[in-house]
Amino acid sequence: MGKVIGVINQKGGVGKTTATIDLANAIAQRKRKVLVIDLDQQGNLSKYTSADSHIPTIYEVLQAEKPIAEAVVTCGRIDVIPSSKELSKADKEFVEHDDIFLLSDVIELIRDKYDFIFIDNGPARSTLLTMAYVAADYIIIPAEADDGSLDGVDEVYNDIIRYRQGKRPITKAIISMLLLNRYENTVMHQNTKEALEEKSENFEDHPCIATIRKGIVATECKSFRQPVIDYDPNGNVAQDYMIAAKKLIMQVGERW
Ligand SMILES: Nc1ncnc2c1ncn2[C@@H]1O[C@H](COP(=O)(O)OP(=O)(O)O)[C@@H](O)[C@H]1O
Ligand SMILES: [Mg+2]
Repeated sequence: MGKVIGVINQKGGVGKTTATIDLANAIAQRKRKVLVIDLDQQGNLSKYTSADSHIPTIYEVLQAEKPIAEAVVTCGRIDVIPSSKELSKADKEFVEHDDIFLLSDVIELIRDKYDFIFIDNGPARSTLLTMAYVAADYIIIPAEADDGSLDGVDEVYNDIIRYRQGKRPITKAIISMLLLNRYENTVMHQNTKEALEEKSENFEDHPCIATIRKGIVATECKSFRQPVIDYDPNGNVAQDYMIAAKKLIMQVGERW
């Protein structure tokens, strides 16, 4: 049964899409079957994995127009379900309370084919994001070291706690990893990392912490439609992603 991992931060540009592609590929390299679902209407992940011309997309699947298996396209060592611009209509179209279970329900149909299923999310609190919370077993929160603010980490944490409580909890997701992105060996970044470690201690899930060093290759590899572990396998960013993938796997109770 595949473990479902949501990559979530309501802030844009913190490295969600990059982390999803590179962690998925690092794990797939360890002979795991990995699926990635692009739930962001911007479709960056679909573009960077060359899945963007494939139809049907996750939109037709959520609309129950197409079976989920038809939306899967193999992109190198991972499988991808691409996004669609039509996802921008999701907040208006999926308005029934039960609609928040749609993604979870369709994932259930293919879950036993995979070891890990990642969900890349857009930068907004939306119905789609709620669907991701419902479907996820585990959550990764990427944050940017650059501005030192750790924006969004507490918001995701508070949402999860709220969704896990109450009469009818809608998620069982555990925060597994805080991923500090674009890390450099400066005093400011070290302080940011310490602040993140403190958060991890205070969060009841005690997520592990991984740092990804800043590197232009993280952006460059995208124009070549390659994950960083193929584009620059011996570089800092690729090595950091391999370490982060190992931490994640062990955090969710698997062997590396
Ligand atoms: N380790 C890194 N070093 C330098 N730039 C990075 C790194 N990780 C990601 N980036 C760049 O930061 C930008 C935002 O990353 P992205 O993954 O698209 O964020 P999000 O999906 O949260 O909006 C992209 O241009 C990406 O290539
Ligand atoms: Mg993104």
